Amino acid sequence: MLSTGAAAVCSLLLVGCVTHLAQADGLGQYAGQCLVGEPPLYDPEQAGNVPTFIVNLDESPETRWNHIVVKYVTQIQAALDTVKKMVGVVENGILYDVLVHFMTGAVDSIQEPYRTELYAIANATGISVGEFTLMNLFYEVSKGCTSIVAQDANGVLYHARNQDFGTFFIWDTVAHQWEQTETLRNLLINVNFIQNGRPLFFGVTFAGHLGVLTGLRQHAFTLSTNARFGSTLPTLIPWLLEGGNARHFLMYTDRDVMQNAKNFQEAKDYLSTVQLFGSAYFILGGTQPGEGVIITRGPNSTDHVASMNASDPNGWYVLQTNYDWDRDPLFLDDRRTPGNMCMQALTQANVDHSGLYQV
Ligand SMILES: *[C@@H]1O[C@H](CO)[C@@H](O)[C@H](O)[C@H]1NC(C)=O
Ligand SMILES: *[C@@H]1O[C@H](CO)[C@@H](O)[C@H](O)[C@H]1NC(C)=O
Ligand SMILES: *[C@@H]1O[C@H](CO)[C@@H](O)[C@H](O)[C@H]1NC(C)=O
Repeated sequence: MLSTGAAAVCSLLLVGCVTHLAQADGLGQYAGQCLVGEPPLYDPEQAGNVPTFIVNLDESPETRWNHIVVKYVTQIQAALDTVKKMVGVVENGILYDVLVHFMTGAVDSIQEPYRTELYAIANATGISVGEFTLMNLFYEVSKGCTSIVAQDANGVLYHARNQDFGTFFIWDTVAHQWEQTETLRNLLINVNFIQNGRPLFFGVTFAGHLGVLTGLRQHAFTLSTNARFGSTLPTLIPWLLEGGNARHFLMYTDRDVMQNAKNFQEAKDYLSTVQLFGSAYFILGGTQPGEGVIITRGPNSTDHVASMNASDPNGWYVLQTNYDWDRDPLFLDDRRTPGNMCMQALTQANVDHSGLYQV
């Protein structure tokens, strides 16, 4: 078992963490359970519980998010409090102040329009810009999740994703895990991004987070990003210490591509070549049969591309968690093996909203 302190450092740094945890003992309590064939859980009514807002990209970055964040001041504070509690486990909370200090210094290295937007939402809410930046960064390392692009028997594409918060976010106690998940759940919003008076794309994010976790550009492509653990810090730390360069903060790359790429191929090219601060998995779906791909990225490289493949019996979907294609998942976090087994139990014939929700 990990000590509380070690776990907190682990979830913060994400470096050397996986090796360390892999030595713990399993006991089968992390085995998967597939709900395909059981009573359906999907309830379209529930989708309406997440509020939808408009962000008008024609409006100045100094105001475009303000109508949203002012409604969420209490919930954003609560989310920051759990971050504070988590890093407070180490060094009596001093670490939190150090992080906020670093972030305050780093804001000016963030590319526009995100920098101005950060200052603006800080202005509008009275929450410091350093804390907002820290919060945005925490979402960045917290994308422990499973993304799937699947094609039904008629060639219609579906893109599914969940957010397994808590996995690496707050490892130390179950209570904290739930606290984090709950505080983030309260921040979940849908955003219609408008440009030139027309809907440009649709994204799911957290109030106060300026990127998108999951996005859809109509008649063009769908995108989700998953965290690729372990290699964000080597590029992030020099950035914090030395100031910015031409690299893109990963947490905003998804919004950039939603705004700029006009179709699946353009999105794929951009996501394969843009220079990043960290590593990531981009899960991209298109509009035509076969347009489903996972791009495994390093800061400066595309390390692997996995595509749907009509010649492969399981090539009607792609599935990505937080582990590389050629590496075994951490045993207590193996969502890939159960995910694949469950997709194969579902079969292509049953791919739809309900079927994927069941997976
Ligand atoms: C922040 O608020 C001040 C005072 O209202 C204003 O002058 C300034 O332009 C605002 N800055 C941003 C980035 O919104
Ligand atoms: C990263 O990519 C740039 C531009 O393609 C190249 O000039 C540079 O050498 C690369 N750096 C590394 C470390 O691969
Ligand atoms: C597609 O699947 C077939 C059958 O499994 C395999 O031989 C082929 O290499 C795959 N193609 C790609 C591009 O992965």
